[in-house]
Amino acid sequence: MVTDADSDRAEMSYSNYEFHRVGSVAEFTDGRGRAVCIDGRVIAIFRVGERFLAIDDRCPHAGASLAAGYVHEGTVVCPRHAWRFDLETGAWADYPKLGVETYPVRVDDDQVLVGVPRDGKDAEQSAPKS
Ligand code: FES
Repeated sequence: MVTDADSDRAEMSYSNYEFHRVGSVAEFTDGRGRAVCIDGRVIAIFRVGERFLAIDDRCPHAGASLAAGYVHEGTVVCPRHAWRFDLETGAWADYPKLGVETYPVRVDDDQVLVGVPRDGKDAEQSAPKS
């Protein structure tokens, strides 16, 4: 259930981000990732049903592209050594204190938009949300 307070909180947190169009909904395949470059960041965007989730594309283990990973039960499995990352929080499934940065995603008028922090720095310094 989304409350007004939740909505206000989402608006406040979104105000720190600049949203960039990355394609139409139809350009994203369900259960697959796609890497995009925005302001020097490479971001992996995943479509899971009607939802869109975005995390840093670079695996913190050895740098593989997470967009090329296998999506399974809310995680993406890195294609190189199979570390798993939660698509909601960015947390490494086997040790949740580590992980990758996440980014907000909106869909407006059938266009997918990804939010990048306005100050050019990671909003939460790559600490996964818990
Ligand atoms: S590069 Fe991703 S698990 Fe090793």
